[in-house]
Amino acid sequence: MKLLITGGAGFIGSNFILYMLEHHPDYDIINLDKLTYAGNLENLASAGGNPHYSFIRGDIADAKLVDAILDGGVDAVINFAAESHVDRSILEPAAFIKTNVLGTQLLLDRAREKHVGRFIQISTDEVYGSLGATGKFTETTCLHPNSPYSASKASADMIAQAYFETFSMPVMITRTSNNYGPYQFPEKFLPLAVTNLLEDRPVPVYGDGLNVRDWIFVMDNAEAIDLVLHKGKEGEVYNIGAGEERTNKAFIESVLHLMGKPASLITSVKDRPGHDRRYAIDPSKIMDRLGWKPRTVLDRGLQTTIDWYTVNRTWWKRIKSGEYLEYYEKNYAVKGLKGY
Ligand code: NAD
Ligand code: DAU
Repeated sequence: MKLLITGGAGFIGSNFILYMLEHHPDYDIINLDKLTYAGNLENLASAGGNPHYSFIRGDIADAKLVDAILDGGVDAVINFAAESHVDRSILEPAAFIKTNVLGTQLLLDRAREKHVGRFIQISTDEVYGSLGATGKFTETTCLHPNSPYSASKASADMIAQAYFETFSMPVMITRTSNNYGPYQFPEKFLPLAVTNLLEDRPVPVYGDGLNVRDWIFVMDNAEAIDLVLHKGKEGEVYNIGAGEERTNKAFIESVLHLMGKPASLITSVKDRPGHDRRYAIDPSKIMDRLGWKPRTVLDRGLQTTIDWYTVNRTWWKRIKSGEYLEYYEKNYAVKGLKGY
């Protein structure tokens, strides 16, 4: 198979490429990535020199470039490319609409024109909005996005579904809960906390710390996407989650415990506006129909992730400078956190 993977220099995309190169060594993989602040080719250093892997720097919204790539023959497009951080979408929403909505629509259009055999849109549980204390998101839960980020992802999902219904395009959508693991950009909660703790800096926790997230190790998500690629049914949505629900407070306490750091490093800050209270995925469809199951329990995945950030200090220290510090100041100063 020849795959076009977009956003492959980001967190999940790069882990997915490494997974596919290992599990399908004869597949050809083209990685199209714009290399925004979140894209990092160091994530794929181990793929360098592999004749089955190639990288093209570019925008999914560049029709000419996408056409030229698809003209080379592509069996499937897997669209990871996105602006992905909720807090940045609150500060500056425009880029989210441009890439996540218009970029996805352009990519769908070109893939349709070129008769690509499969199109997987990588989406998120955030499109469903927020849960109360009970219940879980299923694939038929109504979409109710609350942030500019989740609204842009929900729009992309609806456009993708419309391309299936209207043009019989072979589209599938995956909606995953919070991923964690190596190579995650340290603006997201876990890598931000681990890297701050490695330097004995405070960990900002939003609001009362009782928001609940459902955590999945990134390689378990990669395996699920691989199954959807090969066995998924056209037009279907698949929820992917590992059933590891934690309040942010409990989650961060586990991290402190594993790292042997004091609770005094937890710092309460002002809440994120529109902060979704609880996410929880019901993954029974992908488990029953495609035979997927998560392999990594949270404590083991956390230890693997903490070990990775401990060993790979150069990777995150390079990121935590310049633009990152400007963003940190913009996001956290208004929340009452002083300094980095
Ligand atoms: P990320 O921010 O780490 O990576 C995004 C990648 O997309 C970067 O490499 C960036 O350079 C690239 N990109 C951005 N705009 C682009 C454009 N216009 N053209 C080409 N490339 C572009 O994101 P991630 O956490 O790896 O998320 C990947 C996908 O998975 C996203 O679609 C996101 O919405 C979705 N998702 C993420 C999570 C999570 O927990 N991280 C959970 C569910 C779904
Ligand atoms: O649920 C899937 C989504 O998970 C993906 O679609 C998004 O791309 C991804 O960024 C993630 O969104 P969240 O907003 O849930 O992730 P984040 O890591 O930003 O925050 C996790 C929780 O921790 C959330 O309740 C907010 C809180 N938080 C976050 C940060 C960055 C803090 O308390 N302090 C922080 O500094």
